[in-house]
Amino acid sequence: MFAQLFRTKPIEIGRHSGLRKCLTAFDLALLGIGCAIGTGIFVLTGIAAAVYSGPAVIISFIIAGLAAGFAGFAYAELAASVGGSGSAYGYTYVAFGEFFAWVIAWILLLEYGVGAAAVANGWSGYFINTLANFHIVIPDAWTKAPSQGGIINLPAFGIIWLLVLVLVSGVKQSSTVNNIMVVIKISTIAIFLAIAVGHINTDNWQPFMPFGWFSTQADGHNIGILAGASLVFFAYFGFDAVSTAADEARNPQRDLPIGLIAALIFCTVIYILVAGMLTGVVHYSDLNVSSPVAYALATLGYSWSSTLVATGILAGLITVLLVLLYGLTRILYAMSHDGLIPAVFSKVNPERHTPTRLILLCGSIISIVAGFFPLGTLAETVNIGTLASFIMVCCGVIILRIRQPDLPRPFKNPWNPLIPLLGIVSCSALMAFLPDETWHRFLIWVGIGIVMYFVYSMRHSKLRTK
Ligand code: ALA
Repeated sequence: MFAQLFRTKPIEIGRHSGLRKCLTAFDLALLGIGCAIGTGIFVLTGIAAAVYSGPAVIISFIIAGLAAGFAGFAYAELAASVGGSGSAYGYTYVAFGEFFAWVIAWILLLEYGVGAAAVANGWSGYFINTLANFHIVIPDAWTKAPSQGGIINLPAFGIIWLLVLVLVSGVKQSSTVNNIMVVIKISTIAIFLAIAVGHINTDNWQPFMPFGWFSTQADGHNIGILAGASLVFFAYFGFDAVSTAADEARNPQRDLPIGLIAALIFCTVIYILVAGMLTGVVHYSDLNVSSPVAYALATLGYSWSSTLVATGILAGLITVLLVLLYGLTRILYAMSHDGLIPAVFSKVNPERHTPTRLILLCGSIISIVAGFFPLGTLAETVNIGTLASFIMVCCGVIILRIRQPDLPRPFKNPWNPLIPLLGIVSCSALMAFLPDETWHRFLIWVGIGIVMYFVYSMRHSKLRTK
C-alpha cells in the first residue's frame, strides 16, 4: 500500500497534447499579469492598509512578492523540465508520488474555488459603487455577508452564475481576449496613477507603520506588516497560471521562465505604485471600503474618472474570474483523467463540448461561498492553500534534482538549492502569519481530502490499475 502512495508518475517528455503551440513569452507574461491583477490590488490593498499595515502596505506587497518570486523560479524550472498543464499537481505527481499529488490537487480545488468566490466579492464592491454613481442603491442586506450584518452578497452570487452560463455555452478564455483585458486593466491603473500623483499628501504616510511588524490582538486577529503581507499575497495568486500553458507555449523551455518572471516583476512594480498612491491621497484609516481605488478618485473630486476606472476594474475582474473558474474545471478534469475522482467529472457535453455538469456543480458551490462569506476570510483561506502549493513546488525542485539529476533542465535555478529553500522558508513564514481560524479551516479541508483519498481515489487510481 505504501508503495502506491509514493509511486511517481513518469515524465511525459515529447508528448503531444494536441494543443496548438502558439504562445510567445510576451503572451505568457500577459497571461500571468491578466490572472494576477485583480481583487488583491483593487480591493485588499484598502483593507490591508486600514487594518493591517497602514501606509507600510507597500512593504507587505514587497515581502509577499519576494515569496512569490522564489516560488516563481521553482515553477519555471519544473514547467520547463517536467511540463504538462497540471501545474503544481502534475509536478508533485512526478516528484513525490500520488498521495501528495492528491493532497495538492485537493488544495488547488480550495484555492481556485474560494479564489473565484473572493474575486466575485471584489467585483461586487465595484459593481455596487458603479450603480451608486448612477443613483441606484442596493440595500446593505443584499450586498453583505451574514457576518457583516447582511443576508447575502447578491451581486457576488449573481456574477458567478452569469459566468457559469458563459462557460457552459463553450466560451473559452482566449489569449487575444486576455491581452485586450490586460490593456484595459493597465489603462485603468494608469488613469488612477496619473490623477493620484498630483494629489499626494505626504502627511498621509505618517505614521508609516502604525500597526508595527506583527502582533496578535485580544480577539485573535493578527495585525502588522507581516500579517498584511500574508493577506495581500492574494494579489500574486494566479501568476502561476503561466505554467499551466506549458503545452501551448511555442518554446516552453525559454519562454516559460521569461513569462513567469516578467509577469511577477511587472505586477510587483504596479502593486507598489498603486499602494503608494492610494495611501498617499487618502488617509489609510479611510481605506476600509469595498472599492478603494474608485473611492480615492471620488474623494479627490474626480467622480467621472472614478466611474470610468470602476468600470475598467469590473471588466478586468471578470477575466480573472473566468480564468479561475476555467482553471478549476481543468484541475478536476485532470484528476478525473487520472482516476482520482469519478469519470463523471470529465464527461463532456457532446453538443457544447464543455463539461457542463462539472461547471454547474462548481458554480453552485462557489456562488454560495461567494454570497455568504466576506472577502477577507475568503482571501486568507485561498492564501494558505496557495502558499502550501508553492512550498510543494519548491520542495519538488530539490527532490527532483536528487532523484533525477540527469533530467534535461533548460531552465535551472542558480545556486541550487538556495532559491527553493528561500521559497520554502518565506512561504512557510507567510502561512504562519495567517490567523488560527484560517489554519483550522485549511486543516479540516486537508483532513477531508485525505479521507477521500483512502476511501475512493487510491482504489480507482489509473496509475495503480495500469
Ligand atoms: N490575484 C488575483 C486577484 O488579486 C486572484 O484577484
